[in-house]
Amino acid sequence: MAANPSSTAPDLNAYWMPFTANRQFKANPRLLAKASGMYYETTEGRRVLDGVAGLWCVNAGHGRKQITAAVAQQLEVMDYAPAFQIGHPGAFELANALVGIAPQGLEHVFFTNSGSESVDTALKIALAYHRANGDAARVRLLGRERGYHGVGFGGISVGGMVANRKTWPTAMIPGVDHLSHTHDLRRNAFSRGLPAHGAELADDLERLVALHDASTIAAVIVEPIAGSTGVVLPPQGYLLRLRQICDKYGILLIFDEVITGFGRTGSPFASQEFGVTPDLITCAKGLTNGAIPMGAVLASKKIYDAFMQGPPGAIELFHGYTYSAHPTACAAGLATLSIYREEKLLTRAKQMGAVFEQAAHALRGLPHVVDIRNYGLVAGIELAPVAGSPGARAFDVYLKCFERGLLIRTTGDIIALSPALIIEPKHIEELFGILSQAIKDSAN
Ligand SMILES: Cc1ncc(COP(=O)(O)O)c(C=O)c1O
Repeated sequence: MAANPSSTAPDLNAYWMPFTANRQFKANPRLLAKASGMYYETTEGRRVLDGVAGLWCVNAGHGRKQITAAVAQQLEVMDYAPAFQIGHPGAFELANALVGIAPQGLEHVFFTNSGSESVDTALKIALAYHRANGDAARVRLLGRERGYHGVGFGGISVGGMVANRKTWPTAMIPGVDHLSHTHDLRRNAFSRGLPAHGAELADDLERLVALHDASTIAAVIVEPIAGSTGVVLPPQGYLLRLRQICDKYGILLIFDEVITGFGRTGSPFASQEFGVTPDLITCAKGLTNGAIPMGAVLASKKIYDAFMQGPPGAIELFHGYTYSAHPTACAAGLATLSIYREEKLLTRAKQMGAVFEQAAHALRGLPHVVDIRNYGLVAGIELAPVAGSPGARAFDVYLKCFERGLLIRTTGDIIALSPALIIEPKHIEELFGILSQAIKDSAN
């Protein structure tokens, strides 16, 4: 691809791109110009099948007119409303709609603008909850190795991805510890659905309780399915065991559902899919179909009620954002939830998951493929790394796919697929057709 993909291409120098090899990208850019349904179009007019719903967020497919109209209308009527000590109807309507699809018992919603903000908000709520209950010694937060919880200082502290942490070792919030991760290729490679082995890894929480004492631990945060670290699925029974140990010791359980929320697994939230209800859920991405930035924290009645005890005129939680429940984000969220409801998208991964699973596992046997794992409409394909060059093999496949009209996502040497929930069998065929050819060609 030429360095200047079209005559109208902008100068690429000023923009410092996130989580991107800037110099490599700017020498050979990939620019998207349009999106509709399951496809992007590049600035050169090439069609690219979107195998990752943007960045796990465009769950209803691109270019949904209902969302565009709702946002445009909201901007016409009222562009902004202050978030503190005053409100607007859309915020309450969206909170109610979210509670309507949330796991039972999660009855309150705090709005943010991203997954990272949702995580930091949930961690702060967890700490403040114990303090509100007169249990202020519970200050420790527990995450898990290989976890990704965004890029705020709270999120990188409980997160377990070394590249996101090592640059800021002294800036981590204190008192954090980590459970072992659950990725076990030796026992679970090529599992379909939840892997059979590893429920006992939840007992690692007992180890941390024995080490720190439960009286110092506020909360545990995990992704029900870890996405950014390369699709790590919870072993059967693992999440339930975590819940039971948290209950035993009065520790709050937070599910980070930024990628699993809004139908990815075949239920509105992974919590419902796996039958385990946390005390707090963080979400973002699919909440507005990626059209407008927005995140949310869903909180149990028990947590909310703990804050509503002080004098009636007192602010209960000194936390919030200028753009919490922004009117346009609320309009986008309400329109998105209507689409999900009307098209039954939040459970569609259950039906399409079978076709998707079949197609994903058909890649078994291709060069360097050491694992394929899947659940609902998410799949991870793990490649053996090139010696001394971790990530290079999968990134080469990424580039080959893009050249041939498919957008995938890679993390290390793992390919992650998370297409929009509107995907049809013909797209699944196209996706895996391009991907398998790219894996073969990359090996030559
Ligand atoms: C599980 C999880 N938590 C948090 C985040 C951070 O979300 P954002 O990038 O919107 O801040 C992500 C993003 O991918 C995520 O996957």
